[in-house]
Amino acid sequence: MAGHRMQSRQVFTSSVAVVALCLVGWQMEMAVADVGVNWGTISSDPLSNDIVVQMLKDNNFVKVKLFDANSDVIESMRGTNLEVMIAITNEMLASMAASPDAAAAWVKANVTSHLGTGGVNIKYVAVGNEPFLNGYNGRYIDATLPALKNVQAALAAAGLVDTVKAVVPCNADILSDNPYPSQQTFRADLAPVMLGIAAALKSTNSPFVVNLYPFLNLVLQANFPIDFAFFSGFATPIVDGTRVYTNVFDAGFDGVVGALNNAGYPNMAVIVGEIGWPTDGANYANIGLAQKFNQQLVNHLESGVGTPLRPGKLEAYLFGLLDENAKSTLPGNFERHWGIFNFDGTIKYPLDLTGGVTGRQTSLVGSKNVPYYPHQWCVLKTTADLSLLPANLDYACARADCTPLFYGGSCSGLTLHQNASFAFNNYYQFNNQLQAACDFQSLAQVVNTDPSVGTCKFLIGVRPGNSQAIAPPESSSSRSGASLTVNWQYLLTFLSTIIYNCSQLLLFP
Ligand SMILES: *[C@@H]1O[C@H](CO)[C@@H](O)[C@H](O)[C@H]1NC(C)=O
Ligand SMILES: *[C@@H]1O[C@H](CO)[C@@H](O)[C@H](O)[C@H]1NC(C)=O
Ligand SMILES: *[C@@H]1O[C@H](CO)[C@@H](O)[C@H](O)[C@H]1NC(C)=O
Repeated sequence: MAGHRMQSRQVFTSSVAVVALCLVGWQMEMAVADVGVNWGTISSDPLSNDIVVQMLKDNNFVKVKLFDANSDVIESMRGTNLEVMIAITNEMLASMAASPDAAAAWVKANVTSHLGTGGVNIKYVAVGNEPFLNGYNGRYIDATLPALKNVQAALAAAGLVDTVKAVVPCNADILSDNPYPSQQTFRADLAPVMLGIAAALKSTNSPFVVNLYPFLNLVLQANFPIDFAFFSGFATPIVDGTRVYTNVFDAGFDGVVGALNNAGYPNMAVIVGEIGWPTDGANYANIGLAQKFNQQLVNHLESGVGTPLRPGKLEAYLFGLLDENAKSTLPGNFERHWGIFNFDGTIKYPLDLTGGVTGRQTSLVGSKNVPYYPHQWCVLKTTADLSLLPANLDYACARADCTPLFYGGSCSGLTLHQNASFAFNNYYQFNNQLQAACDFQSLAQVVNTDPSVGTCKFLIGVRPGNSQAIAPPESSSSRSGASLTVNWQYLLTFLSTIIYNCSQLLLFP
């Protein structure tokens, strides 16, 4: 009897232990979710939203940040578990600031309409994007805080005060140039507005969002030590009291924490809205360094070590998911090459988004079912009259993406002939492989063999695919009905996997 009782107690205890282990394991799995990603869409050949959403799912991203509130993009995430940040563009800040009604209309059209059972999991509204960037010469400084307050009021009036938070993603140039994070303050010209923003964020228990770019530190600051941009240790760290900074990421993050501390907001959560490394278009912008930076970054984020002022897990959104070949090159040619993936969703380099901490490493999963144009390219004829070339090159490059051709780019070592072919092909692919887009005063011809030269890739365009995703408004109720089913399926699959995973642990502890 006694023996039997003991046995059942043992069984009970070990079951509890296994279930506990199981929960711990499950939580570790969920912890992967802290790496988010920015989904920008300034591309001449955008992948269809469905393909992108499948990539997000396949790579286990659960946090996605957008730069506007494109209804089709947002709707493409209906019924998924993706936690979404949508945005009010800087151009709209003035009208949001001037009119509570405009803010209410924005929230109704761009937030409320996407919510509901089986809807889109919108968690944040970004009010502007880096509105205080030095390059804007103060253009958005006056509008941002009133816009934030009006959007907060509109969210509250819509009953969303607890579920959807308004935030203001800032560039790190909001900080003064104090080298010691704990002593950091906001830039003098911004101090009053930053205090107002911090107070408004606190009133709704919202996080502070900052974008950090070690790549830009390295490229734009003379004599910036390259080791300080990465996470492998740095011989002459910043020593701030008892805290030692061996990388600029921790220093920048803690600079924001320090500035908030010093402004009277010591407990405000800080999220990194953008961070990444480009692969083309400048010195240091290459696949090797991008792979190194992003892997070290993810490992750092997932390690749970945190920063000296904020130990623990950090939340950040990688910038970005895909290359955007139609972005302005004003910041530099690298601006079109921030993607972890190429514009067509193919993988650039290996990246383990779990940071290795779960012991279950992952590989990136590229895009699926991409509708490419045929395997054909546009090149300069070998017999071409080169006197016509400069004007035609200029024409192509003004309308397509020639950024890899310049100094520091992946195609900067080409001959003049190859150079022209690269530009012509880019223009041809951007123009849907139209015969007329491969003429250039009879200098060009279409070929069927890939003219790529080493790491310089001559791309093939992607057929437009998003038109199918546009649904008439009348069908919105049936759409949500359909996604409700999907959600149930998702929930059931999820629950049965947990039960299966846990039973595996129980059977083979
Ligand atoms: C909703 O967002 C879109 C895209 O950013 C914008 O064009 C539109 O004006 C917004 N709607 C309202 C009512 O403000
Ligand atoms: C290739 O084209 C780029 C951009 O037009 C130009 O800067 C570069 O000098 C060209 N290279 C050669 C070899 O012509
Ligand atoms: C169950 O285990 C598999 C394989 O390890 C994993 O891919 C999956 O995400 C787990 N599911 C849950 C809900 O923990």
